[in-house]
Amino acid sequence: MRLRTLGDVRVGAVGLGTMPLSIEGRPDEARAVATVHAALDAGVTLLDTADSYHPPGGAPGEGELLVSRALASYGGRTDGVLVATKGGRGRTADGGWTVDGRPAHLRRAAEESARRLGGTPIGLYQLHKPDPAVPYAESLGAIRELIDAGTVRLAGISNVDTERILLAREILGDRLVSVQNRYSPAVRESEAELRLCAELGLAFLPWSPLGGISRSSLDGASALEADPEFGGFHRVARERGVSPQRVALAWLLARSETVLPIPGASRPETARDSAGAAGLCLGPEELALLDGRPGGAA
Ligand SMILES: NC(=O)c1ccc[n+]([C@@H]2O[C@H](COP(=O)([O-])OP(=O)(O)OC[C@H]3O[C@@H](n4cnc5c(N)ncnc54)[C@H](OP(=O)(O)O)[C@@H]3O)[C@@H](O)[C@H]2O)c1
Repeated sequence: MRLRTLGDVRVGAVGLGTMPLSIEGRPDEARAVATVHAALDAGVTLLDTADSYHPPGGAPGEGELLVSRALASYGGRTDGVLVATKGGRGRTADGGWTVDGRPAHLRRAAEESARRLGGTPIGLYQLHKPDPAVPYAESLGAIRELIDAGTVRLAGISNVDTERILLAREILGDRLVSVQNRYSPAVRESEAELRLCAELGLAFLPWSPLGGISRSSLDGASALEADPEFGGFHRVARERGVSPQRVALAWLLARSETVLPIPGASRPETARDSAGAAGLCLGPEELALLDGRPGGAA
């Protein structure tokens, strides 16, 4: 698989988001592990998780432990695999998501994540979401301390605007290597953040990169090409003989050299199909169609 850069690390241009393997609706252990193995077989070397990826009522870190077990049981090489985890969020018993950016919480959370992932340093530790109750600089200060203490090697931030990216760069210096925001054919609000990352050489990891293109969209291509939102993606998919999800990921990769999509999957087939996007280079006319409105209309 072609590679992209995260700080001083080179990883496969398409990663794997492991949230669907870890939260409510997750598959059984065998299928979850097979999904991670299918991604690794296809050249994926960036696995995204978080300490909060567990079902409601579950224990923090279930997702990280799953990733660790999948890596331990993989038959091939794993020394080039970068596990990117996150801290600063939690779950409520009724399925909600909480945020906690207090430095004391982040220090403890990172140490626990490191233990679950096999020791320090954590390859990439991402501050999951700004906590409105804590000045962002204070949360970032805790990440800086974790870097200085050797608990974390590289840092990322998530769910942020351009101002916070610049602040994080001031505090974390060249250890800040990535920004993870929601971005997909349907949700393009983070365009300014994507552009700033390209300018600064930071990796931009679009989360929920497929948001909106459902699995059923694989069927009935001609009707779907009339879809005002995703018609362009279905048309290119039909012409190329690939899934619209693969087209969406190839379009994301073409947005900038620093984009690294992390599509989620709960089945080996979808993990494999998404990884194939790294080998799909869209032409200027296809990109112009997809760059316009999501459906491709002018
Ligand atoms: N930082 C944050 O706040 C934040 C928030 C949300 C997510 N994330 C991260 O971003 C990752 C991706 O987001 P996501 O998992 O929410 O959504 P997503 O990647 O947009 O969509 C995942 C869904 O798309 C399906 N899919 C994936 N590849 C496909 C393909 N090639 N063909 C057909 N269907 C395909 C999967 O189906 P199957 O289940 O059938 O395989 C899965 O249900 C997460 O796993 C997580 O690591 C971060």
